[in-house]
Amino acid sequence: MHTVEVNNLVKDYGAIQAIKGISFNIDQGEIFGLIGPNGAGKTTALRVISTLLQITSGSVKVLEYDVKKNPEEVRKLISYLPEDAGAYKNLTGRAYLTFIANFFTYKNTKEMIEKGITIADLEDRIDDKVDTYSKGMKRRLLVGRALMTDPRLAILDEPTSGLDVINAQEIRKIIKDITRAGTTVLLSSHNMLEVEYLCDRIALISDGIIVERGRPKQLMEKYNASNIEEVFTKVVQ
Ligand SMILES: Nc1ncnc2c1ncn2[C@@H]1O[C@H](COP(=O)(O)OP(=O)(O)OP(=O)(O)O)[C@@H](O)[C@H]1O
Ligand SMILES: [Mg+2]
Repeated sequence: MHTVEVNNLVKDYGAIQAIKGISFNIDQGEIFGLIGPNGAGKTTALRVISTLLQITSGSVKVLEYDVKKNPEEVRKLISYLPEDAGAYKNLTGRAYLTFIANFFTYKNTKEMIEKGITIADLEDRIDDKVDTYSKGMKRRLLVGRALMTDPRLAILDEPTSGLDVINAQEIRKIIKDITRAGTTVLLSSHNMLEVEYLCDRIALISDGIIVERGRPKQLMEKYNASNIEEVFTKVVQ
């Protein structure tokens, strides 16, 4: 059984067809990247898989559950980091993580909060209100929130967007570490260098269609390119 199975997925917003029939599978423990330019359909695809948007046609399964038929079961298995998420501004970072952790009554709440705090790595700022955080600090808090629950599948929409080089590297390392601990990761990015480092496999998406897929290294060889950016340029031309 695959961790994620996407078959002929189509998603329309009224007259706009954002996803035009895409298919891919993700196996347990993989880091899979949906890569493409602005407007390609990455966020739409991730939101559909996260049960937040209705499917127009086709199907998505997360482990044994169909996203359309069993959305509440899927939600128990996943964790979703939105691309432009805000946290509850009037809470401190710690209070926010505690608030979220308390929804997970069947897990060890204290351990979960500690894990979130460790990932967010905000030091004493964790006890300051979220609305005093910089963009990068908010992002780290939300990454902590998304990963502290030990989801079977973490769906991360541009996890390092807005982060400086050092913070971005740390988040990438954390993402690698959690897959070693058994979490599967589906992420989106338009940072092609990040993708090369992070992803086991990628799908290049352009205008709602997957135009190429494979392991970053194989794709670079196939297109005789020195990086994924070059691969992408060659594929879309
Ligand atoms: N709520 C919406 N209503 C109408 N059209 C939408 C909506 N959300 C997205 N779209 C359209 O769907 C297409 C795909 O958008 P999407 O946000 O999935 O792209 P993306 O790959 O995540 O882009 P980015 O890299 O800028 O985040 C775009 O043409 C966009 O205008
Ligand atoms: Mg997006």
